[in-house]
Amino acid sequence: MTGQGSSKKSGAKSNDKGRSDLVVVANRLPVDFTTDEDGHVEWHRSPGGLVTALEPVTREAEGAWVGWSGAPDVEHEPFEADGMLLVPVTLSRSDIERYYEGFANDTLWPLYHDVISPPTYHRQWWDAYRRVNRRFAEAAAAQAAPGAVVWVHDYQLQLVPAMLRELRPDLRIGFFDHIPFPAVELFQQLPWRTQIVEGMLGADLIGFQRGGDASNFVRSVRRLTKHTTRGPIITVADADGKPGRHVRAAAFPISIDSQHFDELARTPEVQARAKEIRADLGNPKVMMLGVDRLDYTKGIRHRIKAYGELLQDGRLDVEHCTLVQVASPSRENVGAYQDLREHVEGLVGRINGEFGELGHSAIHYLHHSYPAEEMAALYLAADVMLVTSLRDGMNLVAKEYIAARSDEQGVLVLSEFTGAADELAPGPLLVNPHDIDGMKDIIVTAARMEPREQRRRMRRLRRKVMADDVAKWSQSFLGVLTAMPPRTSHV
Ligand code: F6P
Repeated sequence: MTGQGSSKKSGAKSNDKGRSDLVVVANRLPVDFTTDEDGHVEWHRSPGGLVTALEPVTREAEGAWVGWSGAPDVEHEPFEADGMLLVPVTLSRSDIERYYEGFANDTLWPLYHDVISPPTYHRQWWDAYRRVNRRFAEAAAAQAAPGAVVWVHDYQLQLVPAMLRELRPDLRIGFFDHIPFPAVELFQQLPWRTQIVEGMLGADLIGFQRGGDASNFVRSVRRLTKHTTRGPIITVADADGKPGRHVRAAAFPISIDSQHFDELARTPEVQARAKEIRADLGNPKVMMLGVDRLDYTKGIRHRIKAYGELLQDGRLDVEHCTLVQVASPSRENVGAYQDLREHVEGLVGRINGEFGELGHSAIHYLHHSYPAEEMAALYLAADVMLVTSLRDGMNLVAKEYIAARSDEQGVLVLSEFTGAADELAPGPLLVNPHDIDGMKDIIVTAARMEPREQRRRMRRLRRKVMADDVAKWSQSFLGVLTAMPPRTSHV
């Protein structure tokens, strides 16, 4: 869906619906904005996983979604899209550099992913993070009806719960961390570790992908604050050190719209496209697939290295086997991402140069994003799906692959270091991506797996993924949050 016009000055549709009983707060709005040469702003829906998860509940509650437009300096009145009120938060170029590219994606992201890349600690970035978090909190506070539920998302907005509670003690506040929460031994590197923990503790309920993330958080609370903990319950001490309200920290593993992917992959168009993809690749015996944002956490280099060595060793050959690697562009202004792109593209070039033949590329490298239909066709075409993240909160690609395979064929190779591995084992072939020799053996096992064994594993995986979908995830989080005792002081 696309919307037109509406920069602030050109007369945007304004919020004529009053305040909302459910407010979602996330770094990005579920739409992307573009500005043409005349300064007219256009928006297009950007259907990511979070949108799929939250759109139905938000729409049903006539709720609002507070977030950034994805472009610098866009000032826009709240507007309606698909039954939700979208409330844009403006970020300047400097906010984007310091808050989004800096603190969120060059400090927190690497730190929370076990310092795979060294985090950068800059005080100016921290100041911008606090400033922008306050802007989000104020926008949410202005939008929420008395006693409303506000659901804040992810590492970009960890200070929002406490800021919001200060502004609006009447609200019920939930926070969900979509990425891993690190061990306290790593987390304590962060100069502002205590402020972050206190920020999150503004929520009544804090959700994580894995039980391990929730216990890492609770350990950080114990180590870094004066609050007390008992299992998943944290008793927050007030200013005088007296025990006050309770906060719950627990795992709510996120999922996908499984039925949608399943149905998409059954359509004749997608099935035909899958055949066409295989034909375009020269109908290899084994098509392997990697689908990732081009991010150093995804283990793309490790995967390609293992694959290259298998060609070198002669255990795989380009006549019968090919690897398709989709690497969608991401955070391209951040140095570590630029370095990764250079590395990956250099590696792909070397392997293709060395092992490719006319009509048989070793690796088909695609630095693009694709619509869901094309993704479903790729999943359906692939005999082996390689998910080899070095650290990953969940990894929804693994679940999409499973949902697309109603034919009960295909093998999922899955890193032990994903949230998905906690949930899906023993269906996938689990790998440690740091162990290149081990990963090579697993890739060969996957490439040779008999259809019967593929079916046995895929059936088990599908039972799980089709039952535990994203609607169940949001219902279960909101169910726990709304069952908590209501706040008393209304503004
Ligand atoms: O995994 C965390 C996450 O923020 C997702 O919610 C999002 O899809 C992805 O990273 C990309 O983030 P962005 O392009 O907004 O930096």
